[in-house]
Amino acid sequence: MKAKSISLGGKRFGLYISKEMIARRVRELGREINHDFEGKTLVLLCVLNGSFIFAADLIRSLKIDCEFQTISAKSYGDLMESSGGVEISGLGEGIIGGKDILIVEDIVDTGNTMAALVNFLEKLSPLSINICSLLHKPELLVNEINIKYLGFTIPPRFVVGYGLDCAGKGRQFPDIYALTGSDTK
Ligand code: IMP
Repeated sequence: MKAKSISLGGKRFGLYISKEMIARRVRELGREINHDFEGKTLVLLCVLNGSFIFAADLIRSLKIDCEFQTISAKSYGDLMESSGGVEISGLGEGIIGGKDILIVEDIVDTGNTMAALVNFLEKLSPLSINICSLLHKPELLVNEINIKYLGFTIPPRFVVGYGLDCAGKGRQFPDIYALTGSDTK
């Protein structure tokens, strides 16, 4: 039995996207990526921390040749609003140059993190960069971001679970929960 709602830091979150819906969508994304990159080697670049669970599921849906790498991008801190500033770190040497890169992100909100990441990676001369994001809140987007592989479009509600956190907590829930009540952002 899954919890219909959870409580984190005194805030209540209701069940929003079930793990079954997520699993189905991840398999569909995997099929698309397998088709598009057939015969090629793809580097999955998992954006830490939020996309570690999504990336782990996504890579297991791939049949093509692929490599797995991680990069850290911090933008939110403990707040539930984008701070604008993005700190990128933790990428090893020689991982990007001349390769097909798939950025695997948990959520694109304002797009500040993704814009900073793409800008950073482009300077490292990849063969191609594509974006795969589990979630997207288009209403809050302030950057031009082309998400080639998108799991779900959602309204501007704060969500947790399946790797996504609220002030560091809640990543472990297999389903995704959304903040309830009047304070839904
Ligand atoms: P952006 O830079 O505003 O697009 O925000 C992207 C980052 O903010 C994501 O990688 C997440 O870490 C975090 N984020 C945005 N919205 C949420 C949310 O609803 N729940 C948890 N984290 C979020």
